[in-house]
Parts: sequence; C-alpha cells; structure tokens
Amino acid sequence: MRRFVIAGNWKMHKGVAETSTFIEGLIAAHPSTAVDIVIGPPFTSLPAAAMLLAGSQIGLAAQNIHWEESGAFTGEISGAMLTELGVGWVIVGHSERRTLFGETDRTARDRARAAQQAGLKVIYCIGETLEAREDDRTFQILESQTDGLGGLDTSRLVVAYEPVWAIGTGRTASPEQAQEAHAFVRGCLARAFSSDHAARIPILYGGSLKPSNAHELLSKPDVDGGLIGGASLDVDSFSAIIRAAAECAAGE
Ligand code: PGA
Repeated sequence: MRRFVIAGNWKMHKGVAETSTFIEGLIAAHPSTAVDIVIGPPFTSLPAAAMLLAGSQIGLAAQNIHWEESGAFTGEISGAMLTELGVGWVIVGHSERRTLFGETDRTARDRARAAQQAGLKVIYCIGETLEAREDDRTFQILESQTDGLGGLDTSRLVVAYEPVWAIGTGRTASPEQAQEAHAFVRGCLARAFSSDHAARIPILYGGSLKPSNAHELLSKPDVDGGLIGGASLDVDSFSAIIRAAAECAAGE
C-alpha cells in the first residue's frame, strides 16, 4: 500500500563533479527498483544532477525552499526556481535548519505549503532532542511538530522521523523505539487528515541509518524508508540500504 522511499540528504557535501560521479554509479547500480530513490544534493549541484537523472526513476530533492514566490529574500530559493531545473522534491524542517538556522514549525509548514503549490513533493522532518526524550516529552514534541500539517496534499507528503540525538552521532534509535515513534506519528497524521490518508503517507526513519542496521529498522511495520545523511554519500553504502529496503518491501 505504501511504497518505500530511500532518500539521501547530502547536506553541504558534493559539488558538481562529485555529484556527477555519484549519479553515474547509482544509475549503473540501480537501473530500476521497487523502491522510490531520491537524492538531495546542494543547490549548486542541482542543474547537473537534473540533467544526469533525466529519464531515470531517481528523484531529485532540494534541501530547502522559501515560502514566497519571489522578492527581497537574500540567499533564498523559490519553488518555481527548483521546478524549472527539474527538481521534484524538497526536504523541509530538517533539525539542522531548526537548530542552526532558526527554522520553526511555522516556517517549516509555510515552506511545505509553498513547495506543494509549486508542484513539489515534500519530505517533512520532525524529531525530538535528547533532552526532550529524557524528559519524556517525545510524544508531545512529535504532536506539536505534526500539528497544522492538515492543509497539505497527502499524495505529495512524506514525513521523516529523525530523533535529533541520532543524527550524525552514530547512535541509532532501536527498531522498537523507531516503530513506537512512527506509530505515534501515524496517529497524529490520522487526526490531521484521516486514517486512510495517514495509512498512505510514507514515514521515513532518519538518524545514523546505515547498511548494518537498515534491514532491522526498515522491517518494522510503520517504517517506510529512510532519510539518510552520512551513509548516502557513498554509492555502495547507499545502494546497500536501497537493497535492504527492496527486501523489506518484498516482505523478506
Ligand atoms: P545521518 O543524517 O544519517 O548522517 O545521521 C540523517 C539526516 O540528517 O537526515
């Protein structure tokens, strides 16, 4: 019912040359697959990536978008600028945007809305800090981060649960912790939309996902794929995660 999505968030890694080499390797490794694959290079690598990915089934994501169509917003990029390049996806509300660049639930929602209006699919990131988890506030945080998503088009929405304490730390949520959070998030999405809609929204896990833990995390019933940082930078490790997702999608 839900397709698996394996998305790479490259953050501030890979200029045009490295992006091109990666894409050639990825296409050679995965001419077609039962899993939706998305890569998210930095803005400056998007035009080259779009050209190389044309005709493939691999999706291309930007890592940010502004909520206005144009105007005096130095350093920002609009939805139309992304679709003009052939970008189909955008990552919104990543914890690094929240922690380091002042992103809030409100601005993340505005970006998600603008992205969908421009025709883009959204990977909407949520997740609790270590402090919130230790204070037993995980569910409260996840509830407030998903609150207000109600107006979005669920057919172009993917949610990524990324516990902040697991991002780039090598520390991963256990499969049980991930499943518990994902099931809770699906309940929040059912209230924001409907149970039917919530059942169709892929919820990705992110936070030190790698080949060695991919299968056990992705085999949980409410884990529908991954948003991967570090392990998405290498074709072999990204491909191994895609293969694990394909096995889980086939019920293996
Ligand atoms: P990580 O990053 O896989 O390097 O932990 C995940 C993310 O930030 O999306």
